[in-house]
Amino acid sequence: MSATSLNSTPYNAAHHRLTVVAACFVFLLIVVGALVTSTDSGLSVPDWPTSFGSLYRLPPMSGGVKFEHGHRMLAEFIGLLTIAVAVFTQKVDGRRWMRILGWSALGTVIAQGILGGLTVLFYLPPAISTAHATLGQTFFCLMVSMAFFTSRNWVRQPEAVVGNSARPRLTTLSLFTVAAIWMQLVMGAAFRHSGIRLLPHIVGAVVVFCMVSTLALLTIRRHRATPQLAKPAAILLTLLLVQVSLGLASYVTRVMWSPGAPAPLVSMIVCTVAHVACGALVLVTTVILATQIHRHAETAAYTESMANNHVVSKVEETVHA
Ligand code: HEM
Ligand code: HEM
Repeated sequence: MSATSLNSTPYNAAHHRLTVVAACFVFLLIVVGALVTSTDSGLSVPDWPTSFGSLYRLPPMSGGVKFEHGHRMLAEFIGLLTIAVAVFTQKVDGRRWMRILGWSALGTVIAQGILGGLTVLFYLPPAISTAHATLGQTFFCLMVSMAFFTSRNWVRQPEAVVGNSARPRLTTLSLFTVAAIWMQLVMGAAFRHSGIRLLPHIVGAVVVFCMVSTLALLTIRRHRATPQLAKPAAILLTLLLVQVSLGLASYVTRVMWSPGAPAPLVSMIVCTVAHVACGALVLVTTVILATQIHRHAETAAYTESMANNHVVSKVEETVHA
């Protein structure tokens, strides 16, 4: 990744604002989706793509229907927003990889909508519900990344050059940490939709805790003076602690208190929805931190190689002279 290929577009405030709005709505949709699951409202609207036989008529928004139909309406709106993001990006963004990202986001939201419909049509099979939950989180990462890549800081700010030679390398560790969190989300979703037992998720929590805290603490220790790295690392550490606490609260309310309850407990709904939402924030913050580490550390390599090239050409010039 060279500095030129990352920054060859002017800052466009309207484009950035649109991506920020889209990312915020996707976060809201994750919360509403989690409410659908936690309140057991997944089959409150039994048909799809119609709702109670109609594509446009609003059903009575009571009971589980308000969550399930509300989730569908918000998803449709976000589908439209994503079309706007892809088209706007195609028109104004000079970076080819960003235009690809815009169309990928559109492809992802379509696949996500289809998975949502299929899980209803097949009565919430664990595999499809888990895939829907996981792709939802992945889509959120795509949208937040687009908002980040269109920000003034990303487009205009010069790269801060940081060393990346100390072991473990932050570039490598950050990639493995993103992968570990993503797997943790898959296992959390698989348990939540009754596909597997809780144990793999608990083991995953220990692994994720160790990896995330190592990544964040090493980043802060090594790059305290580089806010582009130290800030997301500090936020990540805080989110991790909140997430583990919410995980424990979800365990108590869902696994210990819920069996035998006549209706979903309010405490369980609050804890599990917050745990899903905070899981999305942990994933996305790690993605941003990994991106920043790669940007600034790679720039160091790039700068070094540019400097080397410069020295080589100077030597060549001297030799020729
Ligand atoms: C932009 C598109 C969408 C996103 C980002 C999204 C996201 C989510 C999320 C994050 C959950 C919670 C999963 C969990 O708590 O484990 C969920 C649940 C759900 N979504 Fe979506 N969704 C989208 C579109 C749709 C559509 C179009 C439908 C159509 C029916 C749908 C139906 C459902 C259902 C039924 C559930 C509950 C699944 C269950 O309890 O097993 N979603 N969604
Ligand atoms: C370390 C970081 C952790 C992350 C990133 C994480 C993430 C998640 C996510 C995203 C889900 C829901 C997935 C979905 O349906 O979309 C989930 C479910 C769950 N997690 Fe975690 N989790 C973590 C730690 C923990 C811990 C320490 C515990 C408890 C000891 C825990 C207990 C649970 C439980 C009980 C559920 C299922 C909730 C339900 O059935 O409604 N998690 N986790």
